[in-house]
Amino acid sequence: MALPTIRELLKSPAPKPGAVARGWIKTRRDSKVMSFAELNDGSCRESLQVVFAPENGNFSEVLPSLVTGAAAEIQGDLVASPAAGQKYELQAKQVKIYGGCDPEKYPIQKKKTSDEFLRTVAHLRPRTNKYAAMLRIRAELAYAVHTYFRNNGFHYVHTPILTSSDAEGAGELFTATAMDLSKLSALPKTEAGEIDFSKDLLGKKTFLTVSGQLEGETLALALGKIYTFGPTFRAENSNTYRHCAEFWQIEPEMAFYELEDDMDLAEDFIKSITRHVLENCPSDMELFAKFVEPALMENLRNVTESKYERLAYTEAVKLLEPVNERFDVKVSWGVDLSSEHERFLVEQYFKKPVILYNKPKEAAAFYMKLNDDGRTVRGMDVLVPRIGELVGGSERENRLDVLEKKLADAHIDAQAYWWYLDLRRYGSVPHSGFGLGFERMMMLITGISNIRDVTAFPRVPGYAEF
Ligand code: 4AD
Ligand code: MG
Repeated sequence: MALPTIRELLKSPAPKPGAVARGWIKTRRDSKVMSFAELNDGSCRESLQVVFAPENGNFSEVLPSLVTGAAAEIQGDLVASPAAGQKYELQAKQVKIYGGCDPEKYPIQKKKTSDEFLRTVAHLRPRTNKYAAMLRIRAELAYAVHTYFRNNGFHYVHTPILTSSDAEGAGELFTATAMDLSKLSALPKTEAGEIDFSKDLLGKKTFLTVSGQLEGETLALALGKIYTFGPTFRAENSNTYRHCAEFWQIEPEMAFYELEDDMDLAEDFIKSITRHVLENCPSDMELFAKFVEPALMENLRNVTESKYERLAYTEAVKLLEPVNERFDVKVSWGVDLSSEHERFLVEQYFKKPVILYNKPKEAAAFYMKLNDDGRTVRGMDVLVPRIGELVGGSERENRLDVLEKKLADAHIDAQAYWWYLDLRRYGSVPHSGFGLGFERMMMLITGISNIRDVTAFPRVPGYAEF
């Protein structure tokens, strides 16, 4: 039977005799006459205090089983609590233990355990206050994303996860096949002796998508404003605090938008979803401000209230070159800026988010629109404190001849992109879009410093447990 959650019980307008709560025991302590337990069901950060008083029953048999981690149902009266910081407590009358828990073996103890250790027990870490709060915020952030786009005339579309094209042209692809690659000798081969993927289930070599952008463009050129929100995959061997092999990406794509409009949208979107979480998750956010990142609220005020600096790449190089001694990779015009440069601009120089645009064409994906100077493209990255790149986007090259030349220059087989080129043949219009990394957005909002800790089951080099 569905019962009110602890969140609902704690919001109850009046005391409630005969209430029932189910959840997991966080802690229990015993005084001479009474016992107290904290029961949490994940519905909110707060636990329900349960009081076991002798006048309400004999609990001596069940109490030893009500240990940290055990699952129980407790029936009793929800009464006003005399204790500070909680509106109600539950005076227990009956207890049912669902699943016991051996306190000697349970890996999740109340005392603080390190993030590194908790990653090794990712199946249990959502039972901790911090990871439960993170996951609730993640759910609310996803809701904020859909709300924002729905309120702004966008259509939510679904682009394929199995795809035959490399949307970024960067070659960071996971091959996806229905063939059993462990039986090498049994695989169909071409005359050249290579695996013949034309005999694979989908009839060609396919990959897990790195981005829904290219298919998203086709839908924007029919529906006007669309967005995707789904998992994307990168087979890049980057073992850093901000890279995952599997991450969720939000990719809006808009017909008739130019680069300037794209930047406006990205800035407004980031501010709006940040505000949404601040307004709707005050208690969970307080946990992060208190225990994870003391400067969190100040940082987020900066994100929601400052006007993001718009900085052309050439101007950025002029700012960075004089301080090259700070950097491992020295900056000069043409160098693709990396996180050390991005973070300098955001954290030291401007002290607020920066939108870096007009990067050199050599450092950019093939689809970005070439500027009239012939050397830069209409791409943009939104850079934020502590993380660096949060958003990557661009105005798209909408001229057929220029796009064909860019594909050829990048040694990309234009044949494979025939449908993408068709968009430039039939009713081509200026259009733009961007991709925001959902996990990086989670890092920004919670102050969590490692991407492995903002998703339930991170996929990073060398690790695919769970
Ligand atoms: O800059 P990226 O590679 O851009 C694209 O994929 C475009 N097709 C997006 C578009 O224009 N529709 O990736 C976009 C964002 C990055 O800014 C970053 O936030 C995130 O995706 N990202 C990653 N997040 C976690 N782990 C990784 N390995 C990531 N790679 C990119
Ligand atoms: Mg990028």
